[in-house]
Amino acid sequence: MSQWDRATLEALDRADPLAAFRDQFQLPAGLIYLDGNSLGALPRRTLARVEETVTQAWGEGLITSWLGAEWITAPRRVGDKIARLLGAEPGEVIVADSTSVNLFKAITAALSLRPERSVILSETGNFPTDLYMMQGIAAFSAGRVRAEAVCEDAVLDRLRDDVAVLLLTQVHYKTGAVRDMAEVTRRAHQAGALVVWDLSHSAGAIPLDLNEADADFAVGCGYKFLNGGPGAPAYLFAARRHQAQAMPVLSGWMGHAAPFAFEDGYRAAEGIERFLCGTPPILGMTALECGVDLLAEADMAAIRAKSLQLGRLFMDLMDEHCGGFGFRLVSPREDARRGSHVSYAHPQGYGIMQALKERGVIGDFRDPDVLRFGLTPLYLRHVDMLDAVMAIRAVCETRGWDDPRWAVRAAVT
Ligand SMILES: Cc1ncc(COP(=O)(O)O)c(C=O)c1O
Repeated sequence: MSQWDRATLEALDRADPLAAFRDQFQLPAGLIYLDGNSLGALPRRTLARVEETVTQAWGEGLITSWLGAEWITAPRRVGDKIARLLGAEPGEVIVADSTSVNLFKAITAALSLRPERSVILSETGNFPTDLYMMQGIAAFSAGRVRAEAVCEDAVLDRLRDDVAVLLLTQVHYKTGAVRDMAEVTRRAHQAGALVVWDLSHSAGAIPLDLNEADADFAVGCGYKFLNGGPGAPAYLFAARRHQAQAMPVLSGWMGHAAPFAFEDGYRAAEGIERFLCGTPPILGMTALECGVDLLAEADMAAIRAKSLQLGRLFMDLMDEHCGGFGFRLVSPREDARRGSHVSYAHPQGYGIMQALKERGVIGDFRDPDVLRFGLTPLYLRHVDMLDAVMAIRAVCETRGWDDPRWAVRAAVT
């Protein structure tokens, strides 16, 4: 008899302090959505708010809504709300652009604080955009800056006196492994480097305390655990102590000290607003604010506890029901080292994921062979773990991956 039978899992769902949040999301009936770490689900309140922004604020208010509907202050207002999730102070987080663009801004700002040093250091296997952005900055610098990626275990030893910026993702996008932010930051500072953290798979999923960790810069996505919608604007954190000296290279007019003074010369805004660049995308910002507001109503400790429990459950159920099918766990089993998704490698990973989608279980696939299952405590139930694992088992028993339709990979996996 399994430790995790349906009755036990249903009892866990009844006792779940976050259970009521599920109803706040619009989820297709019968679907088990294990991809909220890639694109979060739609909060019901977002529909009405976006409609109101379009029909009232835009349709009726037109340009007066920049002030009347407080559009102009949205990057800072939503940034302050996200700051609470990151362990940052009001005025240390701004919402703008994409994570990729914010990486550019944060890395170049950190470089401007370490002019005598030349290396941007990261780890191989980091999320590609992080590596690509640092490579692009190095190429543009015409020899002043070098981008270097070393393997995960060698990062801390590579912190020599030429390293200006260490760029790491706190929760790894593929494995879900968590880096110790306070310890890594301490080691980097000891070596005289600054750190840029990518929190895309952390914010809204695990408790964060950027200021406790003495963090320098951080960036992250709005469309994952923050449930801000496809292509939602991203956020950027700059510790207050760095703001006056950190010079924005993307010196757009919205980051100017007085945008509507229309001066010819660039003067950076005093505070976090200097990391704005162009006009904020208000429709995306409106949806993001709804997701962030909803998250703020939940207790982050309860989110973390449930996320870990769902992860343990998923792994136990995989051991029990799919043990003989060739899956290899690539996420850490240990709670303290695991974020909010669980990944398995399998040689037929791509086909298995496509077959699973046809059975109403959505996760995603990351090259070359990794199946990712995102665990979002606000809208997943304990019984979903059992149903998902039984669907994986059914795909394996029927060789569901063995379908000519999966021979060519889709543009999005
Ligand atoms: C760790 C990490 N960084 C960055 C990104 C993407 O950034 P952008 O919003 O610029 O596409 C992702 C997307 O999945 C990610 O997982």
